[in-house]
Amino acid sequence: MKKNIFQQTAVSSESKGRTGLLTTTHGQIETPIFMPVGTQATVKTMTPEELKTIHTQILLSNTYHLYMRPGHDLVARAGGLHSFMNWPGPILTDSGGFQVFSLGPLRKITEEGVAFQSHIDGSRHFISPEKSVEIQNSLGADIIMAFDECIPYPADHEYVLHSVDRTTRWAKRCFDAHNRWDDQHLFGIIQGGIFHDLRQRSAEALLAMDFPGYGIGGLSVGEPKESMYDVLDHLIPQMPQDKPRYLMGVGSPDCLIHGVLRGVDMFDCVLPTRIARNGTAMTSMGQVVIKNAVHTEAFEPLDPNCDCYTCQNYSRAYLRHLFKANEILGLRLLTWHNLHFLLHLMKTLRQAITEDHLVETCRAFYLQYYGKPL
Ligand code: GUN
Ligand code: ZN
Repeated sequence: MKKNIFQQTAVSSESKGRTGLLTTTHGQIETPIFMPVGTQATVKTMTPEELKTIHTQILLSNTYHLYMRPGHDLVARAGGLHSFMNWPGPILTDSGGFQVFSLGPLRKITEEGVAFQSHIDGSRHFISPEKSVEIQNSLGADIIMAFDECIPYPADHEYVLHSVDRTTRWAKRCFDAHNRWDDQHLFGIIQGGIFHDLRQRSAEALLAMDFPGYGIGGLSVGEPKESMYDVLDHLIPQMPQDKPRYLMGVGSPDCLIHGVLRGVDMFDCVLPTRIARNGTAMTSMGQVVIKNAVHTEAFEPLDPNCDCYTCQNYSRAYLRHLFKANEILGLRLLTWHNLHFLLHLMKTLRQAITEDHLVETCRAFYLQYYGKPL
């Protein structure tokens, strides 16, 4: 049985921003929300207890990676992904569509599915829409995604049209293959590149299938940010009010703000964790490259406005030292801070919507972070 899993709780009067409550088997999520990425059943360097302390509400993991290693059957025998990775809260798995398409020359797309070679040992595999759902059923995430084709940018209208129609047929096959409607919510993924007519075509076909939620895919793949905002401007008003809207693979502060202002409820991205491991922090004053010589004797916190564990206990000088000396703790402390920073930003935006000053809050944040007006 499909249930209504989302309820809008407040709407911004000067934008399309909204707050909501998303109900899953492993708990309720306040939206809009950013989901930290745990590709291989771990958010790199962070324990689940640490993720709890920064108020992580839901994690994302990847079907493709877990299928390749350690295998979905093994995860099922471990009692499912929650039990395997010791994360008791909600989890969303991506379908593998995006990851398989990123393999480039190692994959071949047909109507049946995608044949590809493992990035680990070169072995040959095949993922169809049915297989993706089977894997996600075994992993047991609270929210699972339909198997789609994420089109690269740029792509011509003719190619995108055919791809959108195939993604629609694949979504129907996923829908029919799904057998855990009681405890797993299957989301459809709207594609269509930067073409308004194709986004509308994709949305109409998927809305007719009545999924409990919808991903917006194929964005942040190299198109100008203005094109992404333009797609959201046109697409989101066509999406139902009582279903969650998930902008996939997007997580820079400017895109989060522009997405929330347009009515997006969920985001995920490797950006905060990846740049942390490269020594880049997101702070209220903008990005900080911790290895830079200016921080050699900076005995102040990374971000004076941050109350995360890292900023409460360590100096920029110490963090720089850790990175210069290739010490593991540096990766952990910057990851901790960056995730805290984005989760805190989302909380600020939720509160701004509830109190109805979203635009003002976005303008103030943006000016401080980017040093220019929104
Ligand atoms: N992650 C980022 N973009 C996409 C997309 O278009 N499809 C899927 N499945 N995952 C994504
Ligand atoms: Zn901090």
